Amino acid sequence: MNTIYITTPIYYVNAKPHIGHAYTTVVCDVFARFHRMLGYDVKFSTGTDEHGKKVEQSANNAGISPQTFTDRISKLFRDLLPVLNISNDDFIRTTEERHKRTVRYFWKKLKDAGYIYLGEYSGWYDIRNEAYFSEDELINGKSPLGGNVQYMTEPCYFFKLSAFQDKLLKFYEEHPDFIYPVARKNEVISFIKQGLKDLAISRTTFDWGISVPDDPEHVVYVWLDALTNYLTVNGYPDNEDQNNDPFWQNVYHFVGKEIVRFHAIYWPAFLMAAGIVPPKRIVSHGWWLSEGEKMSKSLGNVQDPYKYCRLFGSDALRYFLLREVPFGADGNFSLDAFISRYNSVLANAYGNLCNRVFAFIRKHCNGSVERPSDILADDAKFMSDVKNILKAAIPLIQQYNFSRYLEKVEQAIALANQYMDFQKPWSLKSTDSVRMQDILFTLVEQIYRITKFFYPVIPIAAEKVLKVITPKYQLTLVDDEQIANTINIGDFGVLFQKIDPSEIDTRDVMADK
Ligand code: MSP
Repeated sequence: MNTIYITTPIYYVNAKPHIGHAYTTVVCDVFARFHRMLGYDVKFSTGTDEHGKKVEQSANNAGISPQTFTDRISKLFRDLLPVLNISNDDFIRTTEERHKRTVRYFWKKLKDAGYIYLGEYSGWYDIRNEAYFSEDELINGKSPLGGNVQYMTEPCYFFKLSAFQDKLLKFYEEHPDFIYPVARKNEVISFIKQGLKDLAISRTTFDWGISVPDDPEHVVYVWLDALTNYLTVNGYPDNEDQNNDPFWQNVYHFVGKEIVRFHAIYWPAFLMAAGIVPPKRIVSHGWWLSEGEKMSKSLGNVQDPYKYCRLFGSDALRYFLLREVPFGADGNFSLDAFISRYNSVLANAYGNLCNRVFAFIRKHCNGSVERPSDILADDAKFMSDVKNILKAAIPLIQQYNFSRYLEKVEQAIALANQYMDFQKPWSLKSTDSVRMQDILFTLVEQIYRITKFFYPVIPIAAEKVLKVITPKYQLTLVDDEQIANTINIGDFGVLFQKIDPSEIDTRDVMADK
């Protein structure tokens, strides 16, 4: 059996989850559901990244312990998962014992292999982003990531990253698909070609972290701590032979573009040092703006995934996130665009198609239609067109092209609507009820096919539709499954209620300031 291990980044617990976080998680969920349908054994994990100076400071400011603080925010990320209908197998917190154990073991591996040494570090430290910068990297007195900086000197363990410069370049050459998209890969390569310095991987200026084995004055650098979560979830070190582990051999890390560097440079270097093969893919996506601007609390434009799900349902949010922007590009999240896509595709094109076909069968065929004995040329063409469109959609997901995949699904829906409008089953009620039924059966069968392809993105609505067609529906994309020869259509409500834009205010969906 094919296996795949899909990971989201683990989320910082310094802010409540917003649409940007929801996006990475939804993308992974769609990828996971899609692969399950193709028959893969899927492991899918997400979680929270909870250590570091910033968290310690935020907890101090709030007058609570870091553990209480992280428990609170981590829960907001965990509770969002069922709200978004995420099918993860694991949720990892870096404060868990299983993770601390893995990190310490991994550290020792790096040390025993001779890649860690004790030195001293000075530089400008960006607290928010937990990273050091040299003087010439600062921009207007701030870090290149935009955070405030502070000059610090501390004893520190280093990782011999410089030893991996050539090995990494060779690795990318031998694995040309390692980093997606190519633009990000080129950035990584040119970054490395400027020269890799050894990396500071411990801190002594705060306590909220995993202590370094045999030197508890130091805590492990948050990125080494955080990246290792991918091994913790995969059972390391109990499951020590990762190189022969079918999930590890097929691990896909989905990440936002700003954290590619950590995943595509540091992470493979750490792994190589520990004798573990690097991940299979680092797949990177772009950034969401909100109503044309960067999301920020002070602007009051932080889009709240909880609110969208409550108002419009998780299917609608999932669909919009994947359809609105080509994967990899930046996108703009606006309520107008959301409503317009929802109404035109989910409510009108798809929802209406299902509603009118099912309602018609219930009203005019006693709720039941039989497989036609005669297939006319029009029917055969409709069926093969849908089939070809859907078949062409499969590789698009494997290329992370979620928006084009959905375009294909929408093309198939449009064909079904055209077929119905052209065949006009309602005009045959009194003249040719057999042909009328044949048309309806053909439509139901194609709705069934199309809906299976829509399922990874809108699982709740899709399962409702599949269930109405047959209680024995199968969530597979591999075979050319045929539905039963007699279809009984049960009671069916409205799938997607149309949204009246005049009733919704942008403020209804933004997070509180
Ligand atoms: N904790 C690190 C990841 C460690 S993984 C070993 C981190 N956390 S984060 O909470 O800041 O970001 C997590 C993910 O959310 C990233 O993939 C990031 O790109 C994504 N997003 C956060 N804001 C976003 C937008 N506005 N738009 C799209 N995604 C963005 O980085």
